[in-house]
Amino acid sequence: MTFRTVRSTADEPLRVVLAGAGSMGRAWLATVIASAEAEVVGVADLDPAVARAAAAAAGRPEVPVGTDAVALARRTGAQALINVTVPEAHHPVTTAALLAGLPVLGEKPVAEDVSRALSLAAAAELTGELFMVSQSRRWNPQLSALRAMTGQLGAIGGVTTEFFRSERFGGFREQMRHPLLVDMAIHAFDAARFLLGAEPVSVYCQTYNPSWSWYAGDANATAVFEMDGGTRYVFTGSWCSPGAVTSWNGAWRVSGERGTALWNGDDEPVLDAQGDIGRPDPSPYSGIAGALRVFVEALRTGDRPSGEVHENVMSLAMVEAAVRSAASGRTELVGDVLESAYARALRDEEHAGVRRVLEGWPSVRDVLSGGGTPGLP
Ligand SMILES: NC(=O)c1ccc[n+]([C@@H]2O[C@H](COP(=O)([O-])OP(=O)(O)OC[C@H]3O[C@@H](n4cnc5c(N)ncnc54)[C@H](O)[C@@H]3O)[C@@H](O)[C@H]2O)c1
Repeated sequence: MTFRTVRSTADEPLRVVLAGAGSMGRAWLATVIASAEAEVVGVADLDPAVARAAAAAAGRPEVPVGTDAVALARRTGAQALINVTVPEAHHPVTTAALLAGLPVLGEKPVAEDVSRALSLAAAAELTGELFMVSQSRRWNPQLSALRAMTGQLGAIGGVTTEFFRSERFGGFREQMRHPLLVDMAIHAFDAARFLLGAEPVSVYCQTYNPSWSWYAGDANATAVFEMDGGTRYVFTGSWCSPGAVTSWNGAWRVSGERGTALWNGDDEPVLDAQGDIGRPDPSPYSGIAGALRVFVEALRTGDRPSGEVHENVMSLAMVEAAVRSAASGRTELVGDVLESAYARALRDEEHAGVRRVLEGWPSVRDVLSGGGTPGLP
C-alpha cells in the first residue's frame, strides 16, 4: 500500500495535534516540543483541564486545547495526529483522524484487540493515510545492534527474554486479568519479531499468580512461541518478583549456529561467536523521538516505516494467542487468532467503506505481511 506524502521541512515542521495528555502524553509532548521535525499545534484530552495542565507543564500554556482531537486538528490546521489515548480510544480516535485526512502516529497497542486493529489497517487502506504504531523498544539502538548481531549468527535456534520486576502501579494494571501479557509483554514480542525478521506460528503459554502477588490477575507468565522457520522464542517473567530485577527491556539471549548474543536490556549487547563477526553501526533512531523522526521521514518520502499498522498487528496477535493458550491449556495457532479476529472485524464494522476493504481481503495473513491489499496501490 502506498500512502499520501506530507511535505515538511526544517523551516516548516510537521504540525501535529496530540490526543491524550496522560503520563505518556506528557512524554510525547516534551518530545515533539524538543524535535526539529514537528511542532505541536494542539493538545486534546477528554478532560480539558488535563490537556491545559500538560501544555502548561511543558512550558507551552498558549497551545490550544480541546476535548475532540480531530475537531481541534481541523481548527488548528494540523497535518497529523499523535494518539496517546488509552487503548480503548485508539480505534475511534485513529479512525476519525484517518477519515478526516490526517496521518496518525499511535502509541502501542495498535488497538484494544486484533479485530479492532484489522479495522484500523483497513481504514488506512481506504483513506490512503499513513498509520504507524510507535512500539518504543524498536527504536532502541541497543536492540538494533542485537538485531544486526543476530543476523550474523547463522540459523537461530532459540531466543529468550526474562522480564522480572517488582512494580506497584496501583490503578488498572493491578485489576487486569493478564497484566504482564497484555500490558507489557507486547514490547518483548514485538522486539522478538524485529530481531528475527520472522512471524509467529503458534504459542503455548501458562500464567500464574504467586501467593504474595498484589495483582488481581496473573502476574507471572511463560510463553513458548514457534516462529516461522522453526526458531523458538521463550518469554518468561513476573510483575511481582522482588530482588535482582531485570531491565525494563528484559534480559535477552539469542542462540545461533555460529554463537550467542546477550543483551541485559540496558548496556550494549555482547557477542560470543566463532569467526570474524563485524560490529554493527549504531542506529540513528532512539526512543519515541526516533519513532517521531521515522514517521516524519516516511511522510516526506512515502517509504513504508517499521511499525506501519499492517506490520504491527502480529505483535498484538502474539499477545492474544498467548492469552488464549493460557485459558485453553493448549498450543494455539496464531493463524486461528487472526481468522477469528477477522470474522469479528467483519461482524462489528460500522463504516461501510472500511467494511468493503475488509471484505476484499483475500487472506488476513497475506494482507498483513504484504502491507495492504494485494493489487491495490
Ligand atoms: N511505549 C511505552 O513504553 C508506553 C509507556 C506507557 C504507556 N504507553 C501507552 O500510552 C498510552 C497512554 O498511556 P498513559 O499511561 O499515558 O495513560 P493515561 O491514563 O495516563 O492517559 C491517557 C489519557 O488519554 C485521555 N483520553 C482517553 N480517551 C480519549 C479520547 N477519546 N480523546 C482524547 N483523550 C482521551 C484520558 O483522559 C487520559 O488523560 C497507552 O496506549 C499505553 O499503552 C506506552
